[in-house]
Amino acid sequence: FYVVNEVVIKRLGHIPIHKGDFHLLPPKVQRFVAEKAELMRPRGIYICDGTQHEADEIIDKLVERGMLSPLKAYENNYICRTDPKDVARVESKTWMVTRDKYDTVCHTPDGVDPIMGHWMSPEDMSDELDSRFPGCMAGRIMYVVPFSMGPLGGPLSKIGVQLTDSNYVVISMRIMTRVTSEVFDIMGDQDFTRCIHSVGLPRPVKQKVINHWPCNPDRVFIAHRPPEREIWSFGSGYGGNSLLGKKCFALRIASNIAKDEGWLAEHMLIMGVSRPCGREHFIAAAFPSACGKTNLAMLQPTLPGWKVRCVGDDIAWMKFGADGRLYAINPEHGFFGVAPGTSDRTNPMAVATFQKDSIFTNVAETSDGHYYWEGLEDEIKDKNVEVTDWLGNPWKLGDAAPAAHPNSRFAAPARQCPIIHPDWESPQGVPIEAIIFGGRRPDGVPLVFETYGWNHGIYTGACLKSEATAAAEYKGKTVMHDPMAMRPFMGYNFGKYLDHWMKLNTAERKLPRIYHVNWFRKSRDTGKFLWPGFGDNIRVIDWIIRRLDGDVGIGQETPVGIVPTKGSLDLEGLGPVDWDELMSVPADYWKEDAVEVRKFIESQVGPDLPAPIRKEMDDQEARINAM
Ligand code: GTP
Ligand code: MN
Ligand code: MN
Repeated sequence: FYVVNEVVIKRLGHIPIHKGDFHLLPPKVQRFVAEKAELMRPRGIYICDGTQHEADEIIDKLVERGMLSPLKAYENNYICRTDPKDVARVESKTWMVTRDKYDTVCHTPDGVDPIMGHWMSPEDMSDELDSRFPGCMAGRIMYVVPFSMGPLGGPLSKIGVQLTDSNYVVISMRIMTRVTSEVFDIMGDQDFTRCIHSVGLPRPVKQKVINHWPCNPDRVFIAHRPPEREIWSFGSGYGGNSLLGKKCFALRIASNIAKDEGWLAEHMLIMGVSRPCGREHFIAAAFPSACGKTNLAMLQPTLPGWKVRCVGDDIAWMKFGADGRLYAINPEHGFFGVAPGTSDRTNPMAVATFQKDSIFTNVAETSDGHYYWEGLEDEIKDKNVEVTDWLGNPWKLGDAAPAAHPNSRFAAPARQCPIIHPDWESPQGVPIEAIIFGGRRPDGVPLVFETYGWNHGIYTGACLKSEATAAAEYKGKTVMHDPMAMRPFMGYNFGKYLDHWMKLNTAERKLPRIYHVNWFRKSRDTGKFLWPGFGDNIRVIDWIIRRLDGDVGIGQETPVGIVPTKGSLDLEGLGPVDWDELMSVPADYWKEDAVEVRKFIESQVGPDLPAPIRKEMDDQEARINAM
């Protein structure tokens, strides 16, 4: 028991504690809770303990209220429809707040808006908070959610406490992070990340609440204060904006902590790949949102004798160990995956993971109690079922509008994945031998290439681009830059970030090799994908691992990197593959690309670009121009 001090008692005023014992909170958490309760004025405080009993109670309440409904075909699966205006991350309203602007963004020329990082001054942030948070929880309960990113107490793990007035957030946090009151017991002198979230709709509510989903889309505001380890999120209940342990903490805030402490927080999956000989290799891969991380992390190899096991599907925290190897943990506890396109054919392991204890947001539903989305057509074709779309309207196969929102998601406990790696909760992490970058590149970019070394790998990551997807508010099919797959999640000045990566290269360390893949190249003639992808991507992993083994004969140099020599990929059992088009490095494409990339780097990173990375750009451009 801790003594509650006078100031804290005064701040709490008459706000009752509905559940939990305030005296069990460490004093700094007591102060945090009291201060924010005084500001947001909830009608009660609920201190979560993370138990199953607690979750059941909250879920029952949500079902009763109509925010969740059970998907009767499964055990403990629930569907949730949001307000249709609250369906994705809102990048334009997501800010990093630092005293010095250039701690957040690079020096861009006049008139050029930085696309990596979105800066706001502390004064402006104060004004924005002042116009939103006072009284914003009136009539609602404030939940106090203690959580650990990474195994509780592990050397790479970090803790946070989230305050929220959304119980959807509480139960989702319970899937996605390790929510437990033990966090308070181990806190000690450790700092914790302060997460403050409100749906932004105090009671009595003046506007109409749609789908029992309170939110305030016009007033959405998400701010991060890296030095203070603090996150403020207002107006949205959608996962990317409200589950603050994920993108906000584990990427934007954590990348700042990582810079200070000498490690990496990245938008990467982690997988263990076992070869027919039994040897296992760990690989991390960074692809922009909706480009196949969750798929690759749970790959079902089509080559005999191979085995893939998943450590993480979205975020990696990585630190060099005393033995000089790079160790990675998955800070999360669940998968928050894109639903459409996920099926037994594309990702059977994800499907197996969410057969119970999962939450589906903005998917469609069948009259026999199953979830439904684009990619599951075969499962309803011959059945006499009716489909209700994500908006709650009747829907039929062949309708023009999709049944599920393109960014609809499942949230499922990672431990339920049949191929979850036995070491996925190892506090020390797993040793990474290769890092892969990739994106949706319909033209010009070969299926796979190896970079020429650490700095060239960093440069290649900095040049990452992809066709836009539904994970954020962008529309259409334009190829956009997404450096290191971190553009929406950059926590600080991208030039300093590249410099931080570079400086990890010290003599005593065994650096992972860096690769680039592209599952999405299309034929210039037919417009169809040139590569079958999914389980057949093991053929590319196989090539990468043979390269790691020192098999130099299977690669040939091109201006952008080392591509497979003809016949060096195992294509046994595949239909016809247009090898030449799939692997080609067309001069016309890359000459144009070099001009565009230089323009991008000069305008977006400019003087913040570390000289050695600039040299990589110059050298690569010279190689391309000599083609
Ligand atoms: P976030 O969770 O938003 O960060 O995205 P993600 O990188 O995990 O994306 P995910 O694995 O959910 O993939 C999304 C889309 O990519 C789905 O539509 C998949 O069908 C498609 N996809 C994944 N792997 C492949 C592949 O190898 N080939 C092709 N053609 N499509 C793929
Ligand atoms: Mn992601
Ligand atoms: Mn994913």
